[in-house]
Amino acid sequence: MKHLTNKQTSTLKNLEHYIQDFFKEDKTGHDFGHIKRVVDLTARLLVDKANPFVCLVAAYCHDLFDDKLEMPFKSIEELEEISGLDFEGQNMRIQKVIDELGYKGGFDDVSRSLNAQIVYEADLLDASGAIGIGRAFYYAGSKGHIFHDPSLEGVQASNYDEYRSLSRNVIAHFDEKLLKLKDEMKTDKAKKIANQRHELLVMFVKAFKEEVEGRDYEK
Ligand code: ADP
Ligand code: NI
Repeated sequence: MKHLTNKQTSTLKNLEHYIQDFFKEDKTGHDFGHIKRVVDLTARLLVDKANPFVCLVAAYCHDLFDDKLEMPFKSIEELEEISGLDFEGQNMRIQKVIDELGYKGGFDDVSRSLNAQIVYEADLLDASGAIGIGRAFYYAGSKGHIFHDPSLEGVQASNYDEYRSLSRNVIAHFDEKLLKLKDEMKTDKAKKIANQRHELLVMFVKAFKEEVEGRDYEK
């Protein structure tokens, strides 16, 4: 695996401190804990042909340019200028990775570079497993969505706008995204982690439905 230079390691540490502040107040599940987990997963998924510096800078910055967050910069280039950090002429490659991320309801069929695929998988892994279950309910609460209403059962988003706005049960998000995540993985390590996390999701959804219906767990 390609190694980071000492200068790159120091840039990444400074970047971590620089952006930590921006996510302090987040209440939608994009807090710094999410960013750090995505960075750590990205580091685990790196393979020989990937560029570690590009992937790791992109992982740190992947949620910075969301329109809803009012940041003083709208691109990696502006971030580099304002922060004084040195991305070593890789701005365009880093930006391209960030632009190729996001599940977006699964309605877009994006073909990704290897660097982007790795950060994409890291971001999606943090939407799966125990943390993914916690984040789904946390996100829904933050958006004022209902916890569970039997009359909404079967309501499904059929396009990206609906995916972002339609009132539906949180458990519907498992069908539209969380249970599909393992099939988005292309690198071997991500497939393995995703399969383990998937098993937990399946158990959770089954138990959730049984409890909603007032039944005891079936073996
Ligand atoms: P990302 O970090 O991938 O950009 P999003 O902004 O789409 O993620 O979502 C943040 C978290 O909230 C993720 O864990 C995602 O699965 C979850 N989430 C997104 N939309 C919904 C929804 N409609 N209901 C419940 N959870 C959601
Ligand atoms: Ni994210």
